[in-house]
Amino acid sequence: PPATASGRAKWRVARHTRESCTKVVANTLCTLLLVVLLVAGVVLFVVWLGLRPHRPRFSLVSFAVVALPPGDAAAQQQQQVAFNVSDRNPNRHIGILYDATQASVHYDNGGVLVAGGPAFASAWYQPNKTTTFIAGLLDVVGPRATDAAWPSFQAELHAGRLPLRLQLTTAIRFRLTGGFGALGFQSGRRRMHVDCHMLVGSDGELLPESVGAACDRYF
Ligand SMILES: *[C@@H]1O[C@H](CO)[C@@H](O)[C@H](O)[C@H]1NC(C)=O
Ligand SMILES: *[C@@H]1O[C@H](CO)[C@@H](O)[C@H](O)[C@H]1NC(C)=O
Repeated sequence: PPATASGRAKWRVARHTRESCTKVVANTLCTLLLVVLLVAGVVLFVVWLGLRPHRPRFSLVSFAVVALPPGDAAAQQQQQVAFNVSDRNPNRHIGILYDATQASVHYDNGGVLVAGGPAFASAWYQPNKTTTFIAGLLDVVGPRATDAAWPSFQAELHAGRLPLRLQLTTAIRFRLTGGFGALGFQSGRRRMHVDCHMLVGSDGELLPESVGAACDRYF
């Protein structure tokens, strides 16, 4: 510090000014930083709201019991069911990666397996905002005459209102489209079950009220 009293006073004032200047600059920087963080948070939140993945939507297009052509000696008794389910990806900027997909048909009144098999044997990708059709043929395996559910199955089939449930089992991942997808921006794998409840007539065809029915999804 200077030797004279007035020098010391000036020195104190200068030090005080310097300190308050530093404080003001620090405060301003802090405020700026907070504002930038807040704005970044809001922007991220809005982007997340816009990109939030929506689950795919499924509905039943057609279902029928088909017999193999007569003369096919190897499969004389074999019946099959043909199904067709529409699958909509409602996301504008998100594609969906599906694992191999299994299909099964159960009698909805007792849970006996009616038919089963692969619907998609390998993994596949559904682009953003598209509809695809998951269709396949499954071998009929039940119910057998010895099953407890056989009498009611037969009765409901002959009455023309057989309740069946088609189930698709797979796992999905969401992937951002465009460059972000190429950079590997995708979600973790989630197992998914799709349940389509339907009524089938005595001819093995879908009743009109079940055509286009929306399917349930479980994760
Ligand atoms: C499934 O239904 C869609 C829409 O009617 C049709 O375009 C498609 O060819 C069907 N797929 C099969 C395998 O029948
Ligand atoms: C699918 O995503 C790409 C890339 O983000 C985008 O350019 C395209 O418009 C999207 N398609 C639809 C139908 O929204």
